[in-house]
Amino acid sequence: MTEKDFILTTTDFSTLNAVNYTWKTPSNIALVKYWGKKEHQIPENTSISFTLDACFTLTTLEFSKKQNESGNFEIYFEGEKKDDFKPKIATFFERIEKYCPFLTEYDFVIRSRNSFPHSSGIASSASGMSALALCVMSIERSLSTEMTDDYFYKKASFLARLGSGSACRSIKGSIVVWGNHKEINESSNLFGVEFPDEVHSNFKNFHDTILLVDEGEKQVSSTLGHELMFNHPYAQERFNQAEENISKIKEILKSGDLKAFVNIVESEALTLHSMMMTSNPYFILMKPNTLKIINKIWKFRKETNLNLCFTLDAGANVHLLYPENEKEAVNSFVVSELIQYCQNNHYICDRIGFGAKQV
Ligand code: DP6
Repeated sequence: MTEKDFILTTTDFSTLNAVNYTWKTPSNIALVKYWGKKEHQIPENTSISFTLDACFTLTTLEFSKKQNESGNFEIYFEGEKKDDFKPKIATFFERIEKYCPFLTEYDFVIRSRNSFPHSSGIASSASGMSALALCVMSIERSLSTEMTDDYFYKKASFLARLGSGSACRSIKGSIVVWGNHKEINESSNLFGVEFPDEVHSNFKNFHDTILLVDEGEKQVSSTLGHELMFNHPYAQERFNQAEENISKIKEILKSGDLKAFVNIVESEALTLHSMMMTSNPYFILMKPNTLKIINKIWKFRKETNLNLCFTLDAGANVHLLYPENEKEAVNSFVVSELIQYCQNNHYICDRIGFGAKQV
């Protein structure tokens, strides 16, 4: 599919009734990371993620015929008006207007809340933007009754990507690939696709315990972060490595090789952070407690031969990933050894989910 396939050609919006739509969409955690993008939110490399379940955003989009020429929208987050969220949403609306021309005819009220604390340091843009994209698609579906489910979800992912790259992986499926990769059927730079191949039972019901090391606002915004990859001396090598890691992880997901999974996922996390340390300006986003947790995980893994591993986003929090059948042992380890390194002892127990749901 090309970008043109996502431009709505209907020009008659008279059948649009002013109702509202609500979607609940999950966050996701990347195994092979997206870090570096081209113009129009096109990723420099393919990424793959587990869809989460407990960490989600619930968004309602209300719309009504616009009252004046300029059009308007308001955003309420957890019941409070949030004007500081507006610029990001305004950019999103501007970017998607070409594909959803009906947007210019309406005023909108967005009401959103997260299942996780906003200040927890968990990126909410993936779940937030995917929820909004799905609400917009619900409006569009009411205009084009013949729309297939396949098109609905592809375009939702396409729109979500224009809000935030990783958001396109929070629409549908438990394991999602974004980026055109020669070995992944139907994969695209324009939207995320459900990982199409066989997945070994070892990877069903995987758990993600999120250890909240630093609950503050992000130190480096993702926009700035991705820009660090422009003119980065190791960028091209990194992008090549990610493509190779996708090929490897595809085989690992099929064979169920947990040791190889641990190796690739941890290496990806550390590579992401090493790209930030070797860019200019440079950043260290891990905190001392991030390293303490990593060392504890390595020690525990060596002692028990269990298959837990860590991954990191662009921040200090640690995602602890492990298979379902190791949950008792890992949970006791978390409580006895790791929560002491979490801010206010806070952590979130999450697991693989299935994608967004209309409410
Ligand atoms: C480190 O999706 O937040 O979490 O496209 O600028 O909104 P924008 O970036 P964003 O970047 C996420 C980066 C990451 C890795 C990943 O999720 O793949």
